[in-house]
Amino acid sequence: MTKKVDVELKNIQKSFGSNVVVEDFNLQIAQGECISFLGPSGCGKTTTLNMIAGFLEPNQGELIIKGKKMNGVPSNKRDLGMVFQTYSLFPHMTVAENVAYGLKLRKVAKAEIQERVQKVLQLVKLPHVADRYPKQLSGGQRQRIAIARALVTEPSVLLLDEPLSNLDAKLREELREELKRLRQVIGVTTIFVTHDQEEAMYLSDRIVVLDHGKVEQIGTPWDIYNNPASEFVHEFIGKSNRMEGTVDTVEDTIIRLTTNAGISIEAKRRKIPFTVGDQVSIYVRPEKINVLDSVKSSDSSSNVATGVVRYSSFLGSFTECMIEAGGELLNVRLQAAPQDLGMEQGGIVKLNWKTEDVYVFPRKGS
Ligand SMILES: Nc1ncnc2c1ncn2[C@@H]1O[C@H](COP(=O)(O)OP(=O)(O)O)[C@@H](O)[C@H]1O
Ligand SMILES: [Mg+2]
Repeated sequence: MTKKVDVELKNIQKSFGSNVVVEDFNLQIAQGECISFLGPSGCGKTTTLNMIAGFLEPNQGELIIKGKKMNGVPSNKRDLGMVFQTYSLFPHMTVAENVAYGLKLRKVAKAEIQERVQKVLQLVKLPHVADRYPKQLSGGQRQRIAIARALVTEPSVLLLDEPLSNLDAKLREELREELKRLRQVIGVTTIFVTHDQEEAMYLSDRIVVLDHGKVEQIGTPWDIYNNPASEFVHEFIGKSNRMEGTVDTVEDTIIRLTTNAGISIEAKRRKIPFTVGDQVSIYVRPEKINVLDSVKSSDSSSNVATGVVRYSSFLGSFTECMIEAGGELLNVRLQAAPQDLGMEQGGIVKLNWKTEDVYVFPRKGS
């Protein structure tokens, strides 16, 4: 059983002059799926979304929506709903008029327009602002209205380009919860563009990680976090400790390494091939490093390090510690208060981590 494909990008490529901005983009989006395009500023997210929207034409490749080839089809014939980073409401129209706009263009009967506008305003929980003008709304409310306006025509696909980026942190969290809830209610196929990895993980079924116009990885939030395809993906998603080192042995299931500072490390062997002597980047995430009870307890010689606590900061749901261990400065996140862990500044601690929590990548530029 395969789900129906709503949107398909086949070898999509876009250049501006000699600058290739989107390289060979291939993706199938299932009906009802929420996909995020995630990557740093300038990686080609908006350009790709604009090609799907019909604001830009690809230089190469095919775009298919609901089984129909869309290359050359004008934007307003693609049956899409769109929300942008900056509030794009018409300032001289009331909220109700703004939301009604797309239905008017489609020559929907007046009574039906009223009913649908009311319904969608209830959906975004703002039925009481129908008669206000955009300038009388808060930033969060304006984005909710922009979402309502995009949804009122019941589009096949909803396109969102950084819709939360102009809001302050608390509103951003509120509105992403709202988007998640809305998506559960209406189940519209959604493409969400963001540079914020947490936002992408929060909202998406799958994430497309982009770097310099190249698709680095497509996967579920779990996949992207736990099985990163490249150093770029690992670094971009979440926080991690990076060490440099050399490959000592490559065995069936593990790789043994030594960091330049001298820590012996055992890493799970993943898909990337290595040979003895390779210069590598080695990563362990802060929440995967354990602080052992006793400095003496140790029966293993790898994946352990004795260190000095440089500082620790209690951050509510976790404590973040900076520990100098074996010549490396390691960030460690612990689920307890620092005073209960013996993590005072200058304290000596023993750290360890699991083989499967070590990620190894070829050294950039080596
Ligand atoms: N109309 C344009 N003409 C020339 N270059 C452009 C144009 N639009 C975007 N670019 C370039 O394409 C790259 C990707 O831009 P964009 O898709 O907006 O990135 P993102 O949305 O990921 O921040 C950038 O280097 C940008 O400067
Ligand atoms: Mg952009």
